[in-house]
Amino acid sequence: MNKPAGTNVTVVDHPLVLHKLTLMRDRHTPSAVFRQLLREISLLLAYEVLRDLPITTRTIETPLAEMEAPILKGKKLVFVSILRAGSGLLDGMLDLVPSARVGHIGLYRDPETLTAIEYYLKLPDDIDARRTIVVDPMLATANSAIAAVNRIKDAGALDIKFVCLLAAPEGIAAFTAAHPDVQIYTAAIDDHLDEHGYIIPGLGDAGDRMFGTK
Ligand code: PRP
Ligand code: URA
Repeated sequence: MNKPAGTNVTVVDHPLVLHKLTLMRDRHTPSAVFRQLLREISLLLAYEVLRDLPITTRTIETPLAEMEAPILKGKKLVFVSILRAGSGLLDGMLDLVPSARVGHIGLYRDPETLTAIEYYLKLPDDIDARRTIVVDPMLATANSAIAAVNRIKDAGALDIKFVCLLAAPEGIAAFTAAHPDVQIYTAAIDDHLDEHGYIIPGLGDAGDRMFGTK
């Protein structure tokens, strides 16, 4: 784990994450393998983003002795997936925290303006009482992530973190300016955006790579 100085970004640069991410970047990796790798990496990202969940203890009996054993302190979680590609990160996170609530925000980028167009929104009613983890593999211009977090804050959420797979420096700067209170977790920070708003070197269009739509 690495926190570049002066940023609100945590880079989860575990060797397993780096290895799997390289396989995902490879243009020859088929969609089925791409989805499986994203699910596996999401477990490792979840491990880091949930590291500071509050803990309490409960008295239990092992077969040999009584002990005060650590358990989660009841801070409730909600995962919010930015469709389509967010579902690839969501699945693995739900494996780790099956009791979490789930919200969805449907957004796509207008290819000309790169602004985020919303087509779906469904969030849990009690999001204000929960820690909210927003998931989307790509933080490029950050227009999508900023729009999603705007909506989530409008719904009352106070404790929000954002998890992605790849981030561009331009996206980190824009997101941090809009939402300085929201910590970003990513597997890597890439070099730059191209003239179409794609992350370079990146991995291409995450939704298309996941679902084989191009
Ligand atoms: C991709 C990705 C993000 C967005 C990132 O979605 O999953 O949501 O682009 O780009 P930005 O930071 O410049 O907003 P896309 O718009 O391609 O929609 P899709 O997931 O339905 O393919
Ligand atoms: N969205 C993607 O899926 N990939 C990029 O490189 C940029 C935005």
